[in-house]
Amino acid sequence: MLFLIAVAKDKSMTEEQLLDLARAAAAKAYAPYSNFHVGCAIESVDGEVVTGANMENACYRLGLCSEQSALTAAQHKFGLGNIARIAVSGGNGAMICTPCGGCRQAILEAAQLAGRNVEILCGSGDGSAVERHTIEELIPFGFGPANLSPPA
Ligand code: THU
Repeated sequence: MLFLIAVAKDKSMTEEQLLDLARAAAAKAYAPYSNFHVGCAIESVDGEVVTGANMENACYRLGLCSEQSALTAAQHKFGLGNIARIAVSGGNGAMICTPCGGCRQAILEAAQLAGRNVEILCGSGDGSAVERHTIEELIPFGFGPANLSPPA
């Protein structure tokens, strides 16, 4: 008798794969003023992935960070509430690139919508180093949507 065994395919990619996508996204940054290229890859709970990169402007303060550009794409592709994991990579050397304060706040928005302590893989631009954080570590005691509509 022949048994067909259905092997559940693990939808999520490896940390290295997600970081590679972030690094590839960084290569498409538009950052002529800082020359600091940052890329971000966001994975959904179903294994879908979107990417983004920083987008600068001659009016410097209008520049957009990679995380916020990827979060916008994530909202459109699968919804902020379905975000599972984020990878960020930036710079040229071995120094780890962590999300700036504004991006931590933007990630907190998604994390609270998702009800998930989203994991953030922070990579160096040269791919030699990685640190793992959660949004709660990166923005403790944060203010988010939960503060505006606390559970009754
Ligand atoms: N940058 C990001 O894209 N994400 C961060 O979390 C840190 C900073 C960008 C903004 C600017 O275009 C360049 O890096 C230098 O600050």
